[in-house]
Amino acid sequence: MNVTHLYCSACGKQYAAGQLLNLCECGKPLMVAYDLERAASQMRKESLAGREPTLWRYREVLPVADERNRLTLGEGFTPLVRAARLGEQLGMPQLYIKDESLNPTQSFKARGMAVAISMAKELGVKKLAVPSAGNAAGALAAYAAKAGLEAHIFMPQDTPRANIVECQQTGAHVTLIDGLITDCGRIVGERKAAEGWFDVSTLKEPYRVEGKKTMGYELAEQMSWELPDVILYPTGGGTGLIGMWKAFDEMERMGGIGSRRPRMVTVQAEGCAPIVRAFAAGAGQGADIPDAHTCAAGLRVPRAIGDFIMLDILRRSGGTAVSVTDAELLAAVGEIGAAEGIFAAPEGAACLPALKQLIERGEVDRRERVVLFNTGAGVKYLECFSQS
Ligand SMILES: Cc1ncc(COP(=O)(O)O)c(C=O)c1O
Ligand SMILES: [Zn+2]
Repeated sequence: MNVTHLYCSACGKQYAAGQLLNLCECGKPLMVAYDLERAASQMRKESLAGREPTLWRYREVLPVADERNRLTLGEGFTPLVRAARLGEQLGMPQLYIKDESLNPTQSFKARGMAVAISMAKELGVKKLAVPSAGNAAGALAAYAAKAGLEAHIFMPQDTPRANIVECQQTGAHVTLIDGLITDCGRIVGERKAAEGWFDVSTLKEPYRVEGKKTMGYELAEQMSWELPDVILYPTGGGTGLIGMWKAFDEMERMGGIGSRRPRMVTVQAEGCAPIVRAFAAGAGQGADIPDAHTCAAGLRVPRAIGDFIMLDILRRSGGTAVSVTDAELLAAVGEIGAAEGIFAAPEGAACLPALKQLIERGEVDRRERVVLFNTGAGVKYLECFSQS
């Protein structure tokens, strides 16, 4: 195990590894540091080829010490699909879709939960709790079941029904709340001490981001260690964006890639675009969105604890933040589906109209290597599509 310590993303305070932690005492997210020299000597590019097709193939840069605690349902190592027909329609010869819908529980949330619940198990946790827009709940429920731990889930009433049913059918305790994910988070916060729950909210414990960062390792490995020019990522809490950026930094320090970085693009829905607004205003924190609404449930996150980290990444990468309407992102589900045979989640599909905007504005060149992240499966959102 190559973890050296944890550190605060805001104030830099260090913490010893091997203890159960949520946020830094300053209230900001904690991150995991590794002995990357040692990791690099153990995880050579050539040796990766023969490893298991899950995120645990990058175990030297993951936190679990005892391999018996590594939970797996087959998460990660999802296909990077060459979107040839969609690319042809857009005049883009190098367009790719990273298809995260092939993960267990059909979304990229499986990556974060696989690692976080493995760590919770290793550190002796018995009961877990999470506020969720839907997919994180499904993933928590599945990995908690696999680990034999209790899962307590709080979701907005208007969460896609598939997410509610999957949690119930994988043994979780589910409570629906008349409110937003931020209201669910407040309830978990108020009750956790009395109930003995460990809070696995986005970025409120250090290990979900470690699971999500494997998307960055995979992209590099699948693109022969040449990162793309642009990454479009549907952003709610932002763990994937933050995780991939961390992965690129680790890979550079291990000598696997150079200093060139993709331009990172946050995609949000117009009804809930706190990062887009903050980016445009030059702000360091997300804007407040009192009446957040979009059928892309994972993007219905009016306030993200890691907003300052995301905004910093967007700016340092030379990227941007783009919002699209619900009509555009729902139409894009059908466009991607018909062109590529991928029934994308509305969140993932939102990347397509965002890309079109950037091409129109001259911010993306059609010859560039562009990756769209399809973070989940459209089949979980049947209520978004009117019957015909
Ligand atoms: C399908 C899907 N895409 C994107 C997101 C946003 O992810 P993140 O919170 O990592 O920004 C979510 C979050 O629930 C989601 O379920
Ligand atoms: Zn701190």
